[in-house]
Amino acid sequence: MSKLTQLLCLAELDQAQLSALLDLALQIKQAPQHYQTALKGRSIALLFEKPSLRTRVSFDVGINKLGGHSVYLDLQNGAMGVRESVEDFGSNLACWTDAIVARVYSQKTLVQLALSSKKPVINALSDLYHPCQALADLLTLKEQYGDLSKVHLAFVGDGNNVCHSLMLGAAILGMDLTVITPQGFGPDAHVLLKAQEMARQSGAKLTLSQHVSSAAGADAIYTDTWLSMGTRADPALIEQLFVPYQINTAVMQRLAVKHFMHCLPAHRGQEVTSEVLDSEYSLVLQQAENRMHAQNAVLVSLFS
Ligand code: CP
Ligand code: NVA
Repeated sequence: MSKLTQLLCLAELDQAQLSALLDLALQIKQAPQHYQTALKGRSIALLFEKPSLRTRVSFDVGINKLGGHSVYLDLQNGAMGVRESVEDFGSNLACWTDAIVARVYSQKTLVQLALSSKKPVINALSDLYHPCQALADLLTLKEQYGDLSKVHLAFVGDGNNVCHSLMLGAAILGMDLTVITPQGFGPDAHVLLKAQEMARQSGAKLTLSQHVSSAAGADAIYTDTWLSMGTRADPALIEQLFVPYQINTAVMQRLAVKHFMHCLPAHRGQEVTSEVLDSEYSLVLQQAENRMHAQNAVLVSLFS
């Protein structure tokens, strides 16, 4: 199995690597005392172009639990590419830090940071992907169901960064995924092709639909905001188009789905009702907790 050197996108991982990461995350969650010095003497930059609660705190606390040190940078320190170029940002950060965790507007920025810093870069969300989120989601499903190749997940909403990373993760691991989006809001064509290619190898069933009824019988329904950070669209128009895709108790009952998932932050009363979000169906806080364990597995793998 080849060593992990960065995490810009889940497509960089093969099935053995992704499975090993999830197993390691479970081990770290169960016995954190064995990993208290895994990042001893390491400093990691946390670079955020966009707001964050879960990602920022789970990386900061997680790095601390592994014995490492994190440095948080946001746009108040001068936006990348404005005060100085992305490449200069990367090459300077590499002088002091061992890795860069970055939340950026464009996936291209992550590639520029990785090239200029020559240090491992971890994608903490971009326009195209959210791999750390998908790792935590797969970990959550593994805890619930065990064998992920027997799980059927339905993603309902915008074919966005979170949807893309779930598509890749499911395709790598052989998990069935139904992606349900309004017309014109489906996943990116290149990501879809890549996921279809990997699904053929793993035996995963990847289905696209525009009808919420296609989620019938799925183990879990996953949704996310109708309007991602950095997306320019008329919120009123988006709401009108997406209202039929709201996840509420009637939908959960009609489709006989066991669990509800959301990366958070949730917009209560829009993509999901409070009744579902706060119900027995909901795995959202397990997902949020698992962000830290999944990310710590990535960090331990990078430096072991
Ligand atoms: N799910 C997630 O990435 O949350 P934040 O935007 O708060 O980091
Ligand atoms: N798709 C959302 C995820 C937030 C964690 C966004 O990009 O804003």
